[in-house]
Amino acid sequence: MTVTANVNSINLHDLRMDLPPLFIGDLEVPLPLFQGGMSVGVSLAGLSSAVANEGGLGIIGTAGIGLLYPRMGEEYADANAIALKAEIAKARTMTDGLIGTNILMALTDYDSLINASLDAGADVILLGAGKFLMAPPTVDMERIRTSKTKIIVIVSSAKSVEVMFKFWNERYNFVPDAVVVEGPMAGGHIGFTREDAADPNVRLESIIPEVVKIIANYERQYNQRIPVIAAGGVYTGADIARYLALGARGVQMGTRFVATHECDASIEFKQAHLNAKKEDVVVIKSPVGLPGRAISNEYLDDVKNGLKTPKSCAWKCLRTCEWETTPYCIALALLSAQRGNLDKGFAFAGSNAWRSEKLVHVSELIQELKDGFSEAVLPPQE
Ligand SMILES: Cc1cc2nc3c(=O)[nH]c(=O)nc-3n(C[C@H](O)[C@H](O)[C@H](O)COP(=O)(O)O)c2cc1C
Repeated sequence: MTVTANVNSINLHDLRMDLPPLFIGDLEVPLPLFQGGMSVGVSLAGLSSAVANEGGLGIIGTAGIGLLYPRMGEEYADANAIALKAEIAKARTMTDGLIGTNILMALTDYDSLINASLDAGADVILLGAGKFLMAPPTVDMERIRTSKTKIIVIVSSAKSVEVMFKFWNERYNFVPDAVVVEGPMAGGHIGFTREDAADPNVRLESIIPEVVKIIANYERQYNQRIPVIAAGGVYTGADIARYLALGARGVQMGTRFVATHECDASIEFKQAHLNAKKEDVVVIKSPVGLPGRAISNEYLDDVKNGLKTPKSCAWKCLRTCEWETTPYCIALALLSAQRGNLDKGFAFAGSNAWRSEKLVHVSELIQELKDGFSEAVLPPQE
């Protein structure tokens, strides 16, 4: 496209460069935008369906989802599976768009959540917490391979992509349908040490091209598109343009969707994001065994001072948690925050959370991203 010097006299809409669709095998996501799965209860049917209605992929955070449903008398894992199926069904009544689930492999009931997602016909399952992806012993990989549901892994480095794809290729004779690469600026659990997360040389911009290169070999071998999706600190339409130019086929965003009316967390949780200053966004230790990024508050100060040691463990939700020695119960803390009791918990948040100033509707946010993308890819004025 050639643009004359007098770009201001041209109707910008004539020049619009729209966000391109994203293909995951035969599945078309009209907008190359995933709303990151956020547990406990931050992304449920409300948020995910709103994103799906705009053409993105809405993702339900599954960890501890049963805790949000009225007590059903079931065991913890059964309650989660029932609640997840109900939440997917609810989302389906709110949108004809695409709905996925996000499952941390560190959960004790990850296999039950995978089966519940497949039973409920989720369009996509995203598996997180990398090191466990090498040995999902109780997952029926054949069921996953033959299902219409796409399987996507979330990783943080080119090295883990290399190791994981080699392992899946040799062990299962298939590879994931797509890869989300989550960089050091992401919210929630991060696949980086505290030091690496603070190191300005460790950047998503450098990791994406390395992953794209590795994946290209598997795209050739399997003769299928395996899109790479960039996550962690993506905030504007210009950011999306930058990652697409680096070889990503889409982006995943979490933090920006917290500051929306449709986000399923309490207003207090959203307010914690809106009120946060840059220095309030900190990296904390988590019983999951990975560092996490969150908004500091008195509860987290108490954790640091050893005042929150749990006295019992109701749910045994994490494979990695030794509750007798863990500094706090993360399920309870995240559930409390979701409900608005931030004196008994805390809000996970990405590095950019301090930039959120007001609540918007998902439709407004997505329009802003589309406009920002379009502006960023317009040829420069002469
Ligand atoms: C409140 C919150 C909860 C999150 N929970 C999860 C989760 O349960 N599982 C997961 O894989 N990622 C989780 N994440 C990460 C997001 O899915 C997303 O990939 C990440 O936040 C992207 O970075 P951004 O927030 O800078 O956009 C969470 C993030 C936030 C902010």
